[in-house]
Amino acid sequence: MNNNQIVNALFDAVQNNNLDIAGADKKFYTKLVLHAAEIRDLYTQLYANHPEFSTNFTRLIEVLISSHQNRTAELKDRDYKKNENWFLSNEIAGMSLYVDRFSGNLSGLPARLDYLLDLGVNLLHLMPIFQSPEKESDGGYAVSDFQKVDKRFGSLNDLKKVRKTMHDKGMYLMLDIVLNHTSDKHEWVEKAKKGDPKYLDYYYCFDDRSLPDQYEQTMPEIFPESAPGNFTWVEECQKWVMTVFHRYQWDLNYSNPRVFVEMLDNVLFYANLGVDVLRIDAPAFLWKQIGTTSQNLPQAHTILQLLKQCVQVTAPGMALLGEAIVSPGAIMEYFGEGRYLAKECDFAYNATQMALQWDALATGQVSIMMAAQPILAKKPFGTSWITYTRCHDDIGLGYDDYMIREAGYDPFEHRRYLKEYFSGQFPGSVSSGALFSVNPKTQDARISGTLASLCGLEKAIIEKSENQIELAIQKIILMQANSFFLGGVPMLFYGDEAAYLNDYSFIDSPDRNYDNRWMHRPIIDWQKNELTSKTGTIENRVFAATKRLLEIRKKLPVVADLKNIRWIPRHNIHVAGFVRNGKEKALYCIFNYSHESAYLTWHTFRYNGFSPEKLYDHWRQEYFQVGTDADYLILGPYAFYLLEVTE
Ligand code: GLC
Repeated sequence: MNNNQIVNALFDAVQNNNLDIAGADKKFYTKLVLHAAEIRDLYTQLYANHPEFSTNFTRLIEVLISSHQNRTAELKDRDYKKNENWFLSNEIAGMSLYVDRFSGNLSGLPARLDYLLDLGVNLLHLMPIFQSPEKESDGGYAVSDFQKVDKRFGSLNDLKKVRKTMHDKGMYLMLDIVLNHTSDKHEWVEKAKKGDPKYLDYYYCFDDRSLPDQYEQTMPEIFPESAPGNFTWVEECQKWVMTVFHRYQWDLNYSNPRVFVEMLDNVLFYANLGVDVLRIDAPAFLWKQIGTTSQNLPQAHTILQLLKQCVQVTAPGMALLGEAIVSPGAIMEYFGEGRYLAKECDFAYNATQMALQWDALATGQVSIMMAAQPILAKKPFGTSWITYTRCHDDIGLGYDDYMIREAGYDPFEHRRYLKEYFSGQFPGSVSSGALFSVNPKTQDARISGTLASLCGLEKAIIEKSENQIELAIQKIILMQANSFFLGGVPMLFYGDEAAYLNDYSFIDSPDRNYDNRWMHRPIIDWQKNELTSKTGTIENRVFAATKRLLEIRKKLPVVADLKNIRWIPRHNIHVAGFVRNGKEKALYCIFNYSHESAYLTWHTFRYNGFSPEKLYDHWRQEYFQVGTDADYLILGPYAFYLLEVTE
C-alpha cells in the first residue's frame, strides 16, 4: 500500500463518515493522519501477503472512526487533560480484585471504595468481568462475549456507574482484554464448530495431527498437570484445535487480519468504557510459528505496536499494560525496541523483581536480585512497571540461570530449594504455599499461596508463636516496601492488606480443584476486614503499615518512575538497596532480607560522589547521622529504611 492509496483510504473514510475535520473531529483527524503511515507500515508487516489485506485495512480505519464517534465528550476531555506521562506518577497505587469475591457484585463496589481510598489505593484492576462460562472460565480469562458484562457481576450499566463514581473520586480503572484466546462458548467458536470456514480461520484448526505434532515439538506446556499439550480434539468439527492454556480456551489466529480488527474493536470498546489502563492478557502468545516456542515472537510485538498506534489515535489517555510473564530479557522487549522504543506497552509487570524478592526471602541473600538489575535498568524512559509481590497467578521462577550461577548456585538445585521452601517441605521452612503446575518431565513448577501464608503467618498462627507472628508481619511489610519504592505503580492484591491466609476450600469445588491458584484468591469477609481498624490486631498492623508506606510514597515525588533508580553496589550479602535521585532530593531505600541483624557500613551512602551527613528515615520518622566508613548502620531482622538525604 503506497502513500496515495493511504491518502485515498483516509479521504474515503472522512467522506463516508461525515467527519467534521475542521471542527469537532479536528483533534482526532489530526491524530489519524499523524499515525496513519505507522499504522499502515505495521499492518503491512503482518498482513502484506494476505488476500484480504485491503478490505481489512479499510475496516481497521472504520473501527478507529466509529470508536472516536462513540467516545464520550467527557472521556475525550479526560484524554487531553492527562499529560503524556500521567502514569509515571508516585501518586498512583493500585489493587487487583475479583469483584464477586470482594464486594459481591459491581453494584456493591462503590460502597467499598472509601476503604480502598483510605488505604491509599486509587487504581483498581477489576479481574475479568466480561461474560464467561460459569464452570470453565479460568477465573474469567475464558471470555465468551467481550462486550457483555457477566450477569454474576451485574450489567454494563453497573460497570459504567462504577467507572463514573471512581473517576469522580479521582480514581483510575484498569480492565483486562483477553487477546490471545476466547472461551469455547464464544459465538465464533460455535460457528467454527459448525464448520463455517470464516470462523474456522479465526482459530488454529487442523484436520489431523501432522501440523499440531510439528508445533508441539518446540512449544512448552503452560498447564502440564491440568491441561497437558497445546491441542485439543474437537468432536463437533472433527478438528485438532490449538488450546495453549486450558482445552476450553481456543487460541485466536492473528495471522488472519480480520481477527486483529475484531479484537481492536473490543480494545476500543473497553477504552470507551473509560478504562485508564488496559491489561493485555498473555501477549507473549499472540503469534504462533512451527519450529519456535510460539512465545515472544517478533510478530507478537508488531501486533502490540499496531494496537498502541491505534489507541493513540482514538483513546490517547489509555495506557497499555502487557502481561508478559517471561524471562527478564524477553520482558524488556515489551516496551518496544528500535524505532518503536517506548511505543509498545506503557507498562509491564516487574515479574523478575517480584520473583527475586521471594528468592531473597527464602535464601536470606540478595545476590540474584542484584544480578538481574542491569537488564531491568534498560527500561526506556516514559514506560513503567507494575510492581507487586502477589497477584491472582502463581509465582514463576523464570529468571535466567546465569543470574543464579553468578550468585554461586546451581540453577536446578537452587530452584529445587525454593520450591521446597515455599511449599513448606524444606526442614525449618515457615512457608505454607503449594507447588503449581509441576511438569514431571522438567521438574519445573511455580508457587501458589497468599503473601501472608508464604511469609509464614499461617504456620505462626497455628503454632501460636508470637515471635513468629512478629517476624511474618515484618516480612510482609518488607516485601511490600521493596516493591512500592522501586518505581512503577505498586499493585496490591486484595486481601494482602489485611493479611489473608490461604483458603483451601477450592479443593471441594470440582470446577476449581484442578487449579490451586484459587488458594490465594480469597472471598473477603468484611468482618475480618473491619479488624483493620482495631488497634493491635494482625489485620490492623499489616493494613496500617501498608497504608503508611503508600502515604510516604505519595509524599515523595522522587519515587515517581523517572528512570531515576540506581542500585547500590552490595556491601552485605543480605542487604539490597537503591537510591532514587530527584532534582535536589535523594532517597536511599535499604532492605535486609536476613532473619538476623545485618551490619551495613556507612560507606554505602557515600556513593557516586555523594557524601550525605544526615539522613531522615521516613519509616521510623527519625534522623540518622552518617557515620564513618568503619561504622555501621545496624538493620534488625527483615528491617528496611527509607532514608532521605537532608543537609
Ligand atoms: C494470564 C492470566 C492467567 C490466565 C492466563 C490465560 O496469564 O493472568 O490467570 O490463566 O492468562 O488467560
